[in-house]
Amino acid sequence: MQGFDYHTPTRLIFGEGVVEKLPEVMAQFGRRILLAYGGGSIKKIGLYDKVRELLADFEIYELSGIQPNPKYDPSVLDGVRICKENDIDVILAVGGGSVLDCTKAIATGAKYDGDPWDLISYQAFAADAIPIVDIITLAATGSEYDCGGVISRTETNDKIGYMDAHNFPRVSFLDPTYTFTVSKKQTAAGCADAMNHIMEQYFCEDSTLLNDGFMEAALKSLMIQTRKCLENPGDYTARAEMMLCCTYGCNGIYSLGNSPSGWPCHGIEHALSAYYDITHGEGLAIITPRWMRHILSDRTVDRFVKYGVNVFGISANQDKFAIAHQAIDATYRFFDSIGIPMCLKDVGIDDSRIGEMAHHIAVNEGLEEAWVPLYEDDLVTILTESL
Ligand code: NZQ
Ligand code: ZN
Repeated sequence: MQGFDYHTPTRLIFGEGVVEKLPEVMAQFGRRILLAYGGGSIKKIGLYDKVRELLADFEIYELSGIQPNPKYDPSVLDGVRICKENDIDVILAVGGGSVLDCTKAIATGAKYDGDPWDLISYQAFAADAIPIVDIITLAATGSEYDCGGVISRTETNDKIGYMDAHNFPRVSFLDPTYTFTVSKKQTAAGCADAMNHIMEQYFCEDSTLLNDGFMEAALKSLMIQTRKCLENPGDYTARAEMMLCCTYGCNGIYSLGNSPSGWPCHGIEHALSAYYDITHGEGLAIITPRWMRHILSDRTVDRFVKYGVNVFGISANQDKFAIAHQAIDATYRFFDSIGIPMCLKDVGIDDSRIGEMAHHIAVNEGLEEAWVPLYEDDLVTILTESL
């Protein structure tokens, strides 16, 4: 087991109706609030009105229209401007991972004198940030329990995962009832995203029985609960368990002490959604089985055997490679069965920019350091196999 230095300072408040605590939580941080949200789902589910009612005694400024794959321009830049002009004390992000991610770039950007892109691209480092509180309405990214945000810059086809310990949300409100209205498409994509977060930690050189068990249980839970959520969107128990599996996804808790994996599928997918603005979880579901097949070898096969036997219940009394291939097939079939389009062409991506994307990934994502190193040729192969 490898050493680690782990700290997640986020307070999680979980359960139906927990939003009632919002006024007392927000008051700890100040009176001037930037309320950030997306394209209107929070209005449809009544959460916007509820928040405005609960915070009637606060001074509220708004940033709306934050898009999926949140954009640096205008959303981050507008948010930074509003915070600076109005001396905002605390940001309240209400929505999915895109809204929350955007507020993370705003929180540090608003305390920085230069161009906020300097921070996102690690040309400079933040000394401070505005505190963030969130009400998450979509189970997927785990942004509510990590310090990362993923920001897209359209003109340069960049989609950067930006991490800064200042950006752990101070408090995350998790009420599974707010996820009842998440569409089948986004529910399935959220499941694929969370499953991939776990797989990115599972497929590595050095793990423990403890972590493997934790991750295998979470993968099984996600598959079972997602099916239930798709069958009955208002199933509280299923939505709740799915939400918690997702919340743990990205802050490292699943894999404390493991060797790093390099998160290769995320490195590849970020280029897909930067170039084509596709749904992150769908891009991951498409890439994952092709990446698995590409890296399967004598060196990696035992990991796939463990995954296949423990997660999918594949018989262990077979040739190792047969088990591994069945495990990869089962991964593909699960994503397919929950309605995810499983080829790039199904999400509007053809072969015309594969070389360009492979080059972009090879230059920017550091995947030569991954558990199984990936170079430009490997990336072209994986993307082509995904067509
Ligand atoms: O914009 P609104 O109207 O709110 O609608 C959203 C959006 O259209 C809708 N939605 C959200 N909650 C809803 C709802 N619709 C009905 N009922 C609700 N309760 O869902 C759509 C997608 O929302 P989005 O926030 O984009 O989804 P998600 O939470 O999956 O976030 C995806 C973004 O997170 C990044 C991804 O790259 C992508 O940009 N990631 C962030 C990570 C992190 N911070 O740790 C890790 C992930 O790997 C991921 O990269
Ligand atoms: Zn992800």
